[in-house]
Amino acid sequence: MTNPDRDALIARLPKAELHLHIEGSLEPELLFALAERNGVAIPFASVEEVRAAYSFSNLQDFLDIYYQGMSVLRTEQDFFDLTWAYLQRAAADNVRHVEIFFDPQGHTERGVAFETVLDGIERALKAGEAQLRISYRLIMCFLRHLSEEDAFATLDQAMPHLGRIHGVGLDSSELGHPPAKFARVFARARELGLFVTAHAGEEGPPEYVHEALDLLKVGRIDHGNRALEDPALVALLASEGMTLTVCPLSNLRLCVIHEIGESPVRRMLDLGLKATINSDDPAYFGGYINDNYRAVASALDLSGAELATLARNSFTGSLLPTAEQARHLAAISEALDGR
Ligand code: HPA
Ligand code: ZN
Repeated sequence: MTNPDRDALIARLPKAELHLHIEGSLEPELLFALAERNGVAIPFASVEEVRAAYSFSNLQDFLDIYYQGMSVLRTEQDFFDLTWAYLQRAAADNVRHVEIFFDPQGHTERGVAFETVLDGIERALKAGEAQLRISYRLIMCFLRHLSEEDAFATLDQAMPHLGRIHGVGLDSSELGHPPAKFARVFARARELGLFVTAHAGEEGPPEYVHEALDLLKVGRIDHGNRALEDPALVALLASEGMTLTVCPLSNLRLCVIHEIGESPVRRMLDLGLKATINSDDPAYFGGYINDNYRAVASALDLSGAELATLARNSFTGSLLPTAEQARHLAAISEALDGR
């Protein structure tokens, strides 16, 4: 398949995005506009300066800038504008379903009310459903560099809104903060009927992926790259049909891989793993979901069938009911046939 043909297929394939931190979709232009609107001082003189600062040598490097960036988000309208901008990008990439992460602790610790965050994001998601035909689920992440007690307090804040939040996740600094630290709060979330997922194996060892499965009892693994170091773990993930939400450009920009050709996507598919492609924090990592698909497809010479498998995995690994998944799978077959 030539690159233009492949790119055209990527563009017309319906996709779900399962690993997207909404705060990571804050483009420098909006960051500047919100800083001005809210009178928040930022240590950058121009959009170009912001972009130049987006050079990271590891996850922590990025997180330091990511938390600084989100400090311009103050009002319900800010969270609406942020989410609406992402949804328009997603629609342009033919994304039909999104499962969005948000980091309430990144906001409540700055004095922004939990409800301000939730209301703004949800209002945009509802507008996206009505106007862009993008369905959604919302996943609240706990910041793993904070304590389990803080995570419990965040879950308490979510209690009046459980009908509006579909799952919990675990993100931020992985090394030194294993899933085991959050076993009890995840057990509570599961008792409440919430879906659970966790970042594991991005920088952390395969043991963290084991813990996410055994102690947190996750329904997906976010990233999962380092699972490939452990053949028994690979066999387990494959036999369970566990979805892995891989983020190629994120991996590159955070030096999890050193060139895009090292992306584990092809190896995962060959090993029978249910890999998906996602953008993670697109404003910081240089691309939205189709940019991620195009980068790996070109570097790994992925076939049309492999691209369709990745798109199918994004729906079958989603929280959508089976009947809705089936509708999207049929649309993928049509896209593959060129219809
Ligand atoms: N890893 C961990 N935490 C994060 C990330 C990530 O890629 N993006 C935003 N928070
Ligand atoms: Zn992530």
